[in-house]
Amino acid sequence: MLSYRHAFHAGNHADILKHLAWLGVISHLKRKTKPFVVFDTHAGAGQYALNSDQAQLNREYDSGITRLENVQPASALLSDYMSVVTPMIEAGIYPGSPGLTVRTMRGQDAAHMMELHPSEFPALQTNLAPFTTAQGQSGSIHLHHRDGLEGLVAMTPPTPNRGAILIDPPYEVKNEYKQVADTLKAVFQRWQNAQVVVWYPLLSERAKEKAELCLNMVHEISALGKNCFKAEFTITENTHDAGMYGSGVCIINPAWQLDEHLTQSMKEVCKAMGPEAGFSLEWLKQEEA
Ligand SMILES: C[S@@+](CC[C@H](N)C(=O)[O-])C[C@H]1O[C@@H](n2cnc3c(N)ncnc32)[C@H](O)[C@@H]1O
Repeated sequence: MLSYRHAFHAGNHADILKHLAWLGVISHLKRKTKPFVVFDTHAGAGQYALNSDQAQLNREYDSGITRLENVQPASALLSDYMSVVTPMIEAGIYPGSPGLTVRTMRGQDAAHMMELHPSEFPALQTNLAPFTTAQGQSGSIHLHHRDGLEGLVAMTPPTPNRGAILIDPPYEVKNEYKQVADTLKAVFQRWQNAQVVVWYPLLSERAKEKAELCLNMVHEISALGKNCFKAEFTITENTHDAGMYGSGVCIINPAWQLDEHLTQSMKEVCKAMGPEAGFSLEWLKQEEA
């Protein structure tokens, strides 16, 4: 089943948390000049026009990125994020995870982006064409029309083995939670120092079965690396019928101080979002150095 289209949700609260976390991971990788390799298993179309029919349907960006328009970021991570996003928003576009990656990676780095949807993949190719056809500065960008979880297992560990993975499935079907956990178990057998960001929805009692599958997934993947934390961003109260009341990212093998950088930036985001917004970060595994 491939009915999910990210254009309906581009720039919403979940994108802000996920993209801040992903940018935080890339920023830490860039602290060393050594090259890195990143994988985006569910890439989407790369970027989204906010005046499209899909984005206009519920205008989810209005309760997301639009709220950050007048924020003067104090934290380094939010500042990095806004410096990429603001000029794009001014042009009526919100970047997806591939759009952020290609604008932040360096000439020595590589990215593998996977997308299975028959119309999202050509859109990804078109949207990233200025970067995939340019030589040098954008690094080595590879777009794959394939199943992202299967592709991840096939392409890891990369050379060099310094790098990170973003897993951002639509979770349309219940077994996606287990597929993510099983995939990461296979990946960690061969690539123990992978940094991983897994996005997940926070679902209320109404979607109890999926919420429990999600909890199990987070529990299982949190054991795979040396360290792991989860960071959750809520935008409304978790009542029985709230549906998706927020979202989270589970970060395996996070770089040193990523927790602090994410917390500082999300505090600023929460303030801009209004009184109902909340953020929490919890370490799930911490091995002694
Ligand atoms: C939540 S969206 C991705 C958004 C993107 N990561 C971003 O932050 O801009 C999920 C995407 O995964 C794609 N997808 C669904 N199942 C897939 C699979 N098995 N392999 C690769 N892509 C898949 C969908 O077509 C959709 O474009």
